[in-house]
This record gives sequence, structure tokens and C-alpha cells, in this order.
Amino acid sequence: MAIRRVFLAVLLPYCIIAFPTGPPVNRTVCTSMSPSGHPSNTATGPAPYIIVVSNDTYTAGQPIQVTVRANPGVTFAGFFVQARNQSDSALGTFSNVPQGSQVLACTSAAGAWSHNNKNAKTEITATWMPPSDDLGSIAFQATIVKGPESVYWEGVRSQPLSYVYSATPSLAPGVESTPSSKSAVSSSIFLLTFAVFWAMVA
Ligand SMILES: *[C@@H]1O[C@H](CO)[C@@H](O)[C@H](O)[C@H]1NC(C)=O
Ligand SMILES: *[C@@H]1O[C@H](CO)[C@@H](O)[C@H](O)[C@H]1NC(C)=O
Ligand SMILES: *[C@@H]1O[C@H](CO)[C@@H](O)[C@H](O)[C@H]1NC(C)=O
Repeated sequence: MAIRRVFLAVLLPYCIIAFPTGPPVNRTVCTSMSPSGHPSNTATGPAPYIIVVSNDTYTAGQPIQVTVRANPGVTFAGFFVQARNQSDSALGTFSNVPQGSQVLACTSAAGAWSHNNKNAKTEITATWMPPSDDLGSIAFQATIVKGPESVYWEGVRSQPLSYVYSATPSLAPGVESTPSSKSAVSSSIFLLTFAVFWAMVA
């Protein structure tokens, strides 16, 4: 009995962490950036959204701020963002993602950024850490869902960022790990500790 409780106690937090809300992470969205499972698209006209970047170049070890922004009077419910080069490879890692969003593992850990709730958003910003090599010009590309699920735009792009070499790549402090992964780890440790405690006293 006690063993079964401890077993449950250990597994439970991982089950909670493994199923966040947001777009399903499967090959369709990771490669085509299309929101599979949504009804056919009824959006018309140009996307009422822009992607703003903090710099028009990228350098290894130097973080870039990326913002998805709605035009005045417009909101969005969902989004999926990757940085892609001209060969269409998704590159770099996202961190410092605010509430309402999450990093996703598509082709690499934290290589994509998306919503994790459907609240109306006007603007959202995260940090992107470039790859360590010159992988050519990149641009942030997004699929943005205005809501309902049948109203979305694909291929929303930032300006291109070209690579600039720096002999002394400086790692800005505090960007190596994301607040969301830190809080996921600490909430997991909390749940684990609590569950083990509960299993022992029950
Ligand atoms: C991706 O997820 C959607 C929605 O759940 C599903 O319809 C689709 O079949 C999935 N695709 C793959 C390749 O798993
Ligand atoms: C931003 O661009 C300037 C000019 O090209 C460059 O010197 C600087 O290192 C860049 N900053 C980042 C964070 O890439
Ligand atoms: C794009 O990135 C991939 C690595 O993921 C690399 O193999 C490829 O050469 C890059 N493309 C360009 C045009 O630099």
C-alpha cells in the first residue's frame, strides 16, 4: 500500500507537467507551422499582427527580444513562433516567456514559443538566444490565431536578422534558464515533496 502511494506520488507531478495546454506538439505544427486540428481558415485580408525584434543582427550569446504585437483594437488568442533560416531550419532557443505562453520542444528543446491559454492578448515578448554559429539570415515566423479557431494567419514574419560574428560572445546573466522551466522544476519539487510527505503520514 505504502509503496503504491510513493509510486503514485513520484509519477503524478510528471503527468501534470507533461500535458500543458496550448497547441499539440506534433510534426504538423513543428514543420509546417499550420494549426492542425483547427477548422478551415476563414481569415481574410492581411494579418493584423507584426513581429518586432530588438535588433536586425544576431550574434552567438547575445539575446534578442521578440514581440508579437496586435494592431490597435485587435487581439490574439493563440500563436506559434519559431526563428527559421533560409533553409527553413528552426534555430535558437526561447526563454523568459511570460504568463500565457510556454516554450515548446519541436526539433530542439525550447526551439518554439506558443500560447498556453486562450486569453485575448495584445502583445507578448520573450527572449531568443541565437545559435552559436552563422546559420545564415533568419526571421521569426509565426502562426497567429485571432479566435475563434477558424480565424488565423500563417507566415507572419519579422524583418530578417543577419549574422554578425563577435570574438567575445558575452552571455548575459540570467538568460540561460527560463523562469517557466525554473518554476516548472520548483513546482514539481514542491508537489513531489508534498506527495511523499502525504504518502508517509497517510
Ligand atoms: C497533430 O495534432 C492534431 C490535433 O490534435 C491531430 O489532428 C493531428 O493528427 C496530429 N498530427 C500528427 C502528425 O500527429
Ligand atoms: C545589435 O546590433 C548592433 C549593430 O549591428 C551590434 O553591435 C549589437 O551587438 C547587436 N546586439 C545584439 C544583442 O545582437
Ligand atoms: C540553416 O540551418 C541549418 C542547421 O539547422 C544548416 O544546416 C543550414 O546550412 C542553414 N542554412 C543556411 C542557408 O545557412
